Amino acid sequence: MDSGPLETFSRECRERVESALMRWLPRPNAPPETLHQAMRYSVLNGGKRIRPMLVYAAGRALALKPEQLDAPACAVELIHSYSLVHDDLPAMDDDDLRRGQPTCHKAFDEATAILAGDALQTLAFQVIARDQAMAVGAEQRMRMIENLAQASGSRGMAGGQALDLAAVGQDLDLAQLEHMHIHKTGALIRASVRLGTLFGPNLDTRLIRQLDRYAKCIGLAFQIRDDILDVAGETQELGKTRGKDRAQDKPTYPSLLGLSGAQDKAESLYHEALQNLESLNETADPLRWIAAYIVGRSR
Ligand code: IPE
Ligand code: IPE
Ligand code: MG
Ligand code: MG
Ligand code: MG
Repeated sequence: MDSGPLETFSRECRERVESALMRWLPRPNAPPETLHQAMRYSVLNGGKRIRPMLVYAAGRALALKPEQLDAPACAVELIHSYSLVHDDLPAMDDDDLRRGQPTCHKAFDEATAILAGDALQTLAFQVIARDQAMAVGAEQRMRMIENLAQASGSRGMAGGQALDLAAVGQDLDLAQLEHMHIHKTGALIRASVRLGTLFGPNLDTRLIRQLDRYAKCIGLAFQIRDDILDVAGETQELGKTRGKDRAQDKPTYPSLLGLSGAQDKAESLYHEALQNLESLNETADPLRWIAAYIVGRSR
């Protein structure tokens, strides 16, 4: 990641969320051991933790304390990690390498990977239901659970994944490709920002709408950059095998617009994202740094 303020912010976020994840994940020696080991293997393996960073960054813009944000940060990363375990399965993208290590079904077996994904998903909701440091009532927890469920389910990430699988070998137009990306990846990124804002009984709906528009832009930009890196990145740095989209005949932004057209689109979304933060002061800077990172990253 870049040096400078983003580096410091991202290190703090990573440390916070990783210690929360270690606390919430079942112990590896508690039965059923293999399932618990597979869950820990798939989460505690060096992801970039972008979604937790967005939870902390959105919460900071609303003057929330970091300890209140650990649970939603942990929850979005659990859902994201589950989505990667299932995304890599032979029935989906059939990948062997994830975050620089063998994918969960390679390190364990397919049945264990399916169950690890299932259990990571439900743990996410348990964390929001239970965590005490959030210091919020039942109503706010319900709102967060509902948001996260919506973003992860058939009208969010899982629905987008279904579109992705149905699109193999098809020629999508730009609107269809955008629709797919907004769902498979954008929805959870949007929920990450939203979860950082759903505290307190008196929500500033105007501010939440601005942050939501910001999140929608960077969510799409994130998957566009992911598509670009699948062509132009390095397997070693990505920690996943480059060139899989083309090999599997998946429609992507580079396949439709070319590499530079795809990057132009990501950058225009970046500018649109920043416009939505114009009325916010420097407490929103981490959101600005993350947006810049998303469109320029090399992993
Ligand atoms: C990869 O997400 C899958 C997509 C939604 C594009 P990340 O690039 O955030 O993966 P990790 O968490 O850093 O491994
Ligand atoms: C994944 O998209 C989106 C998810 C919901 C996991 P990709 O299939 O492009 O993600 P990578 O490239 O395998 O990380
Ligand atoms: Mg996929
Ligand atoms: Mg994949
Ligand atoms: Mg990809």
